Amino acid sequence: PVLVVDFGAQYAQLIARRVREAHVFSEVVPSTMPASEMLAKEPAAIILSGGPSSVYAEGAPSLDPALLDAGVPVFGMCYGFQAMVQALGGTVEHTGLGEYGSTPAQISDTDSTLFNGQPSDQSVWMSHGDAATAAPEGMRVTAATSGAPVAAFEDDERRLYGVQWHPEVMHSTFGQRVLENFLLRGAGLSGDWTAHNVVEALVEQVKETVGDKRVLCALSGGVDSSVAAALVQRAVGDQLTCVFVDHGLLRSGEAEQVEKEFVAATGVDLVVVDAREQFLGALAGVSDPEEKRKIIGREFIRVFEQAARDVVGSAERDGHPVEFLVQGTLYPDVVESGGGTGTANIKSHHNVGGLPDDLQFTLIEPLRLLFKDEVRQVGLELGVPEGIVWRQPFPGPGLGIRIVGEVTAERLEILRAADQIARHELSAAGLDREIWQCPVVLLADVRSVGVQGDGRTYGHPVVLRPVSSEDAMTADWTRVPYEVLAKISTRITNEVREVNRVVLDVTSKPPGTIEWE
Ligand code: XMP
Repeated sequence: PVLVVDFGAQYAQLIARRVREAHVFSEVVPSTMPASEMLAKEPAAIILSGGPSSVYAEGAPSLDPALLDAGVPVFGMCYGFQAMVQALGGTVEHTGLGEYGSTPAQISDTDSTLFNGQPSDQSVWMSHGDAATAAPEGMRVTAATSGAPVAAFEDDERRLYGVQWHPEVMHSTFGQRVLENFLLRGAGLSGDWTAHNVVEALVEQVKETVGDKRVLCALSGGVDSSVAAALVQRAVGDQLTCVFVDHGLLRSGEAEQVEKEFVAATGVDLVVVDAREQFLGALAGVSDPEEKRKIIGREFIRVFEQAARDVVGSAERDGHPVEFLVQGTLYPDVVESGGGTGTANIKSHHNVGGLPDDLQFTLIEPLRLLFKDEVRQVGLELGVPEGIVWRQPFPGPGLGIRIVGEVTAERLEILRAADQIARHELSAAGLDREIWQCPVVLLADVRSVGVQGDGRTYGHPVVLRPVSSEDAMTADWTRVPYEVLAKISTRITNEVREVNRVVLDVTSKPPGTIEWE
């Protein structure tokens, strides 16, 4: 892989994604990892990320010069660049001429490895208080800005490169080109990391891990569990059994999509447990959001546990015990929990999601090195239906936490109808990619007066909550065009009898969460 050494701040994951966009596999490692351990991974290249520190601040993360002497191509960005300057014997100073934001840079050699084929005037994204004032011996300076006389350098002999700016952010106009030049020209990589090759490699790994054992998967209908299941089924076929708990809290058409389209497209062996009555019964009379969440979680475990026991029991009778449980864990979770360095399948033997001791599985996480957009590409490659691949994030407790008040069959039906209209119109307006997700919330305990035809109505409001986000940690309300909102409002109030008002949630997160409960 290409190793992205994380010097802190939020840049490393973004760099890793940009590298993958160039079809080169990348992994994030913490800067505290010993150089020997990094080199043991036989990196094809190393990228040193930016970071918040000053290279000579006390406790600043350090760069082991061994990384620069190993014969591995290295590319430093921002802090990583300054760390290289320092390690190679150049000078970094606090000049008092910090640069922040879009900055004009002059490229002095447009035939160089990094800048080949690019204009000599570029806009680059800077964020630095210190600057390199003297390049290390042997490094050729190839760019400057007004605040950074040494803004880029390269040495093709030792294959060492660096830029003072952040090529990974969009505001650096030629950033991706610079990065690709490093990967393809400087490091001589081939850019063959494609969804097709990823699927092949992961299928091989899953085959090897699973052998002739059996595998269980809790299919939720979401993108991650669906793609993980499709991948494992491609690898081991009917050794995989998926359990889909229909809790009756999905949106219109979603259960059918899993039960029919997904099965037809991927050939997975699916056990559907119809637990709709059980969930409704358990939720009867409950309005408190946390209480609802707890009940739904508890019932899910109960139902899944029973289904798992049945599958495990029959597998044992066949002499092929169930040993693995598939989880759709993604790379950001892995990096955030500090374990960015594993292989495609960890085998930590532990109990999962509150299952009892007699149901012990080894986890298999085939997507743990992938970002969400890559999971989608892998899903398409595996033939997972597009309606699932492009599905918006949807909370586990489903519509149960989008009805403010008690959850009843009738209210679910009202919400499903309104939600279906909103989803349809937002899609038709081409807003699927701009909108991260758009919960539709039924204020079931609120009523308001309206007039329809000649008569007074006394119905319920629904709330539209379209948000734009990168990762759901923060979000802003999406500026959906008025015409689209008007159409949704008209259709919902015309077609869903019980709803006589449609309101728009214009709260960012924070302070509001995305869901209402
Ligand atoms: P909030 O409402 O906290 O939601 O801003 C952030 C993201 O998480 C989703 N969400 C959940 N997902 N189980 C899940 O799998 C849950 O219990 C749950 N609650 C919220 C929410 O849809 C949003 O994408």
